[in-house]
Amino acid sequence: AMRAELNKLAHMHQDMKKRKDFENEMDHFFSLFTRYLSEKSKGTKLDWEKVKSPSSEQIIPYADLPVCENPQHLNKLAVLKLNGGLGTTMGCIGPKSAIEVRDGMTFLDLSVRQIEYLNSKFDVNVPFILMNSFNTDDHTKRIIQKYGSHKIDILTFNQSRYPRINKESLLPMPRSPGGDISQWYPPGHGDLFESLINSGLLDRLISEGKEYVFVSNVDNLGAVVDLNILQRMVDSDSEFIMEVTDKTKADIKGGTIIDYEGTVRLLEVAQVPSEHMEDFKSIKKFKIFNTNNLWINLKAIKRVADEGELSLEVIVNSKTLESGEKVIQLETAVGAAIKHFKNAYGVNVPRNRFLPVKSTSDLFLVTSDLYSLNHGELVMNPKRLFQSVPLVKLGDEFKKVFLLLRFAQVQMVQIVQLLNWCISEP
Ligand code: UTP
Repeated sequence: AMRAELNKLAHMHQDMKKRKDFENEMDHFFSLFTRYLSEKSKGTKLDWEKVKSPSSEQIIPYADLPVCENPQHLNKLAVLKLNGGLGTTMGCIGPKSAIEVRDGMTFLDLSVRQIEYLNSKFDVNVPFILMNSFNTDDHTKRIIQKYGSHKIDILTFNQSRYPRINKESLLPMPRSPGGDISQWYPPGHGDLFESLINSGLLDRLISEGKEYVFVSNVDNLGAVVDLNILQRMVDSDSEFIMEVTDKTKADIKGGTIIDYEGTVRLLEVAQVPSEHMEDFKSIKKFKIFNTNNLWINLKAIKRVADEGELSLEVIVNSKTLESGEKVIQLETAVGAAIKHFKNAYGVNVPRNRFLPVKSTSDLFLVTSDLYSLNHGELVMNPKRLFQSVPLVKLGDEFKKVFLLLRFAQVQMVQIVQLLNWCISEP
């Protein structure tokens, strides 16, 4: 029934080219849906006995990488930000990347600044790529217009748009390709591979001599290009490097790298059988988690896709829409692809490469003078004595960005020093 419904949707498209693209997208959706059904009936329970902590070759400490200041591989690199998500949790209607972080600059502006600086410092041409979704594309394009005259190539492509599924009937919600946007969703960042290929951008990058892509969440302010990792990727002939970092008790969400029958895999919380959840959350057996900073070989993406190997674990996201209708959306995560690539491993990076802004509490810290800006990169204020940052938990009164921004440029260093002083003085 699902197949028939999808065919019907595809046939409604008038324009041939658009229809072809849409059919292609629905085919990919259908295969994800089929996998979901088969996993639902058979179950794909991981054999927990086979889940092992990664070996020392599977996770390399960042400090072991030789320091590299040679930009020789930069012209083969492209930088890609995952920009499909909205800032809804922080009370924004547009893309999260459009939130102002510092000095009137948004996440997008900061990333552009970093790449411009990299390009001019080393006289290279690293393109800056944004993977948008139908939720973020218009707004993002308006923002980046201002860079039209800058010396930086900004490329965008759109990820797929899949139909939400009614939870009871398991049929697609939309009745026409142009159906209301509340009936569709962007299927998670694991969609990167198919969308990069379908948009033609993968072939274009390869034909322009690019060999590697550095992927990260647009809201991770610590995800800057790192020459040591790039050099290591080239030297070790690796197709996929995942930056991981030490887990603290607060980091229970992110996936972790495991050894599964000798291959490196990403284990997400959604795949963990409930009886092993405590095990998963413990920081003893699984010491690190995925930052979603990934270094991937472009030709390898092509090979893996051509061989039809990409089968990323299905993440089922249940939602209740405003109308009260219960739906599910099937998603995938980009890091799950690690199992398909050769010579893949994790590099355990310092925490400063993972500086995500998920809430106004996070934003509070990054807008404060705990940090300062260096060519678009956030660096710790040298006046600060400790490298760690204080724990900030704002109440629900401050959940929305516009409320927080009234406190813009908080003098955190002074506040924290005052607090430390209060604690240390009897
Ligand atoms: P997520 O929504 O997956 O992260 O977005 P999260 O829920 O905040 O938590 P973590 O980081 O997974 O623990 C991560 C990045 O992926 C993009 C978002 O814009 C963000 O930059 N994203 C997410 C997409 O580009 N497309 C999607 O379909 C989902």
